[in-house]
Amino acid sequence: MSQEITISVIKADIGGMVGHSGIHTDLVAMARQHLEEAQRRGVIVDYYVTWCGDDLQLIMTHRHGTDSPIVHGLAWETFERCTVKAKEMKLYGAGQDLIADAFSGNVRGMGPGVAEMSFIERPSEPIIILMADKTSAGAWNLPLFRMFADPFNTAGLVISPALHEGFRFEVHDVKGHKRIFFNCPEEMYDLLVFIGAPGRYMIKAVYTKKGEIAAVSSTERLSLIAGHYVGKDDPVCIVRAQGIFPAVGEILEPFTMPHIVEGWMRGSHYGPLMPVPLQYAKCTRFDGPPRVVALGFQLADGRLVGPRDMFDDPAFDEARRLCNVIADHFRRHGPFEPHRLPMEEMEYTTLPEVAERLAGRWEPLPEPHPAITGGDGSAVEAD
Ligand code: F6R
Ligand code: MG
Ligand code: MG
Repeated sequence: MSQEITISVIKADIGGMVGHSGIHTDLVAMARQHLEEAQRRGVIVDYYVTWCGDDLQLIMTHRHGTDSPIVHGLAWETFERCTVKAKEMKLYGAGQDLIADAFSGNVRGMGPGVAEMSFIERPSEPIIILMADKTSAGAWNLPLFRMFADPFNTAGLVISPALHEGFRFEVHDVKGHKRIFFNCPEEMYDLLVFIGAPGRYMIKAVYTKKGEIAAVSSTERLSLIAGHYVGKDDPVCIVRAQGIFPAVGEILEPFTMPHIVEGWMRGSHYGPLMPVPLQYAKCTRFDGPPRVVALGFQLADGRLVGPRDMFDDPAFDEARRLCNVIADHFRRHGPFEPHRLPMEEMEYTTLPEVAERLAGRWEPLPEPHPAITGGDGSAVEAD
């Protein structure tokens, strides 16, 4: 058994109540019971079960390291058990994220989202778990950049000797299946070239310059795994706080600007990301707008002391109000870009179908009138 503690956040949508808006409390209770048993057997050190929108979130600490078949298997089994219950209640889309038929050692690529990290626990170890619904993993790019590279967000980058050196970003190209590392602030502009396109390039992890893990996100893309739309990825992210990492307040600060993310209705719209307390982590209006929840814990020998519901604070009221204003404005665009995602990003299948049906009706544009072209077809300059 390792000296390191591992924290694993594994999540899946295994049935919504009502529709895709939220979750049934029976599923949460059932998952708790299952993880309680696992804790009693000594498989995991501690756990906390929660939700965000229609996603069931399993937060677990253990000594098995990342990508452990034991822990991933436990999560898979929990989701399967809850799916039986979800089917019994005929919850909406019961079992939708359990894409594979059987567990094969690791939930990566099977449907559930995973963020996990291992480290030696510091004398005091504050962590923030970020969970979002109705959006995808690229939604963390902007806030992670702000936390770890933007001195206008994180004062510590300028005034704390512990942070002044900067951080190292691991970026995944989820379409090209490759990764790259960037040091900040030195390579900040190179980093931004890629992470500014969050549909393809996603910040997977952030490290200190000495290699200590600072943050990790889930980067699974369900549509890429399944080959067709099966729901948004609804990502999670773990961030360590204080000391050599940004302060709790520097981790939460980026969410005062409700940035525009992809997701929302049918996974096919841009909209603002609304920071909410758990009680408002349900996606109602136009199946959204996309929500983010932040739970804070103190680790104590692997025990999860907490949580504290970090966005349950009037300090985020203005962000929520602004979010509603932006949501109104976007909604007025209806099916027009840039509310609707561009053609190539549309995950629902009606557009390709319509395009195929109409393919034969497209005809070439008439040739330009001879009076406005030269003999060789080139444009004639106007006087
Ligand atoms: C988006 C989402 C929902 C559904 C929408 C239609 O991530 O989960 O917006 O896409 O409610 O759902 P279906 O096609 O299941 O009726
Ligand atoms: Mg759902
Ligand atoms: Mg969801």
